[in-house]
Amino acid sequence: MIAPMTSPFRVLAFAGSLRKKSYNRALLRTAISLAPSSLAFETADFSDVPVYNGDVEAEGFPAPVQALRERVAAADGLFIVTPEYNCSIPGAFKNTIDWISRPPSQPFDGKPASIIGASIGDGGTMRSQVHWRQVAVNLNLHLLNRPEIFVRRAQDKFDADGNLTDEALRTAVVKHMEALAAWIAIFKK
Ligand code: FNR
Repeated sequence: MIAPMTSPFRVLAFAGSLRKKSYNRALLRTAISLAPSSLAFETADFSDVPVYNGDVEAEGFPAPVQALRERVAAADGLFIVTPEYNCSIPGAFKNTIDWISRPPSQPFDGKPASIIGASIGDGGTMRSQVHWRQVAVNLNLHLLNRPEIFVRRAQDKFDADGNLTDEALRTAVVKHMEALAAWIAIFKK
């Protein structure tokens, strides 16, 4: 008997760097290419999100913020690929999350998500990811616990075209994406 077709889960993916040759953007592309077919990805762009200002918010959400809020609300799950700046979440990325998190109907509330990241340092975004986990608690965003992925010394793990060449990491990414699919499925039951 042929199994019934089910729609893939909609996953909104954020790469937290605006840089064209960003390792995190490259890691996101790799992760999408290695993900199971039960996940359908859209990528979020925050290049036009203004700096948060409560006075601006009082006049209404800027269009790029409103669009991201709606895309988060419509997603079955989120996938976050984060850099690390000064041992924490990059400011432009955090600014975007702060905007999206504003009431009413905080759209992260209750969503499943996962996080990975790449940096040129030896920690591989470990400290940034720890800070993300603290933020996620406040957002009631349910982050997958494991398998964790810290892409250390990213300059040695990608080729000039942004392809992840480290086989052990590629295997880890496959496992992570399978775990994200299983994690979202739990929330959709
Ligand atoms: C960095 N970088 C960095 N790396 C790291 O491992 N730990 C850190 O605390 C920091 N801090 C930091 C601060 C600032 C302001 C910048 C611009 C950079 C280096 C960082 O890992 C490197 O620039 C990555 O290439 C950033 O990610 P993308 O843009 O390649 O995705």
